[in-house]
Amino acid sequence: MLEMTKTPQQIVKDLDEYVIGQDEAKRAVAVALYNRYRRLRLPEKMQADITPKNLMMIGPTGVGKTEIARRLAKIVSAPFVKVEATKFTEVGYVGRDVEQMVRDLVDVSVHMVEEEYYSRVRGRASQEADKKLVRLLVPGIKHEKRQMTMQDMMAALTGNGNQNQNNDEDSEEVTDAVRDQRLSVKEQLSKGLLEDREVTIQMDEQKPMGGGGDMMGQMGIDMGDMLGNLLPKKQVSRTMSVKEAREVLIRQESSKLVNHDDIYSDAIKRAENTGIIFIDEFDKIAAGNKRTSGEVSREGVQRDILPIVEGSQVNTKYGMISTDHILFIASGAFADTKPSDLIAELQGRFPIRVELDDLSKEDFVRILTEPNNSLIKQYIALIGVDDVHLTFTKEAIDRIAQIAYNVNHTVENIGARRLATILEKLLEEVSFSAPDMAMGDITITEQYVNDRIGKITADKDLTQFIL
Ligand SMILES: Nc1ncnc2c1ncn2[C@@H]1O[C@H](COP(=O)(O)OP(=O)(O)OP(=O)(O)O)[C@@H](O)[C@H]1O
Ligand SMILES: [Mg+2]
Repeated sequence: MLEMTKTPQQIVKDLDEYVIGQDEAKRAVAVALYNRYRRLRLPEKMQADITPKNLMMIGPTGVGKTEIARRLAKIVSAPFVKVEATKFTEVGYVGRDVEQMVRDLVDVSVHMVEEEYYSRVRGRASQEADKKLVRLLVPGIKHEKRQMTMQDMMAALTGNGNQNQNNDEDSEEVTDAVRDQRLSVKEQLSKGLLEDREVTIQMDEQKPMGGGGDMMGQMGIDMGDMLGNLLPKKQVSRTMSVKEAREVLIRQESSKLVNHDDIYSDAIKRAENTGIIFIDEFDKIAAGNKRTSGEVSREGVQRDILPIVEGSQVNTKYGMISTDHILFIASGAFADTKPSDLIAELQGRFPIRVELDDLSKEDFVRILTEPNNSLIKQYIALIGVDDVHLTFTKEAIDRIAQIAYNVNHTVENIGARRLATILEKLLEEVSFSAPDMAMGDITITEQYVNDRIGKITADKDLTQFIL
């Protein structure tokens, strides 16, 4: 479960597919990550003494800090959460709220481990699900009058309709005709002929997820979950296609086939040993000179975060988790503040510092074209939906990159985010009229870029508003 299949070099190579440049930062995160797997291969006694070296990424806005962290988590499939440190400076937050990030990490981990357990029993679960589908599609003959059992009475008293339902199912009579029909439906099902047929199934009520910032969250407890674990989940009937229903049923059956306590303890272990918490906007909690009134003291927030980063026990609904070996990646632009404005203890917990570079025009060209789902590829695909074939000349892309670079340096440097605003403006007309063109080719040339964007960039005020 905890074996590391990727070396730092491979991690960097994978990151290269999404993030342009920033080699130093990529190397640093790859090493920080790999070190944790190194540690896990040591004798346990020694493991305990090796605390992870947390990392701080410093660099201007929009140059790939968050992107690196986001991709990293996917590449190594470690539990990963991202929080904004500024969230803790908002009015109404109390010290214990910072623990929420650890709880969120455990939630993510539980979900990951659950999926793995479920995929292992999927074969059996889908057999069961298909059996259920057959019964739903060809119900047995229901008997109107039957004696009320003790259970029915209880169910009627507590108003638990679900219980009733189950009993009904049990009391169905399966006649020979029903059996024959079920056989034929079973065969049709397996051939995939009934995927669009509608069935009504019983499922857990989907409750909206309680965010960390609500009343209960502030108490450090998740009341909904606490109650949810005590009371049986409310069941609701929903009608959907066989295809959708099968997935729901497979999950229900999988859930019966796995041991949830194993999942929880595995998940806690995994979060403890491989979890990554990415704290964005870290510079905003450094005590700068700007301080808005009503804001929670920034130093106070740092003091709240400190124990978690230093290693402490946090109570979650799945059990206690120790944060000793969780990897923390702090990130911030540190434009108005410096890392040295942080309290000393916190600085000490982030010994690895990497600086990200400002992006050049050449970087922009690469960002536009190289990554797997680069902006240009996204637009080509989007416009392609209307059967309009969009292409960009090399010169046009060059021009877009140049404009982005210029605007960043004359108005405000927002890094690669500038590309998004420029492309949106550039393709406004195309996006609008493509559906009515009914096929065709559009080539974006340098001239087109100049025509649409050139005028705007000539006027600084206009640029500020539009690009
Ligand atoms: N080096 C890069 N390679 C590829 N894409 C990038 C790069 N830098 C930024 N981007 C793109 O720009 C957008 C913003 O980048 P990101 O979220 O990483 O900024 P950031 O460095 O975290 O900035 P902030 O300090 O404002 O949080 C993302 O959509 C990302 O895809
Ligand atoms: Mg960011």
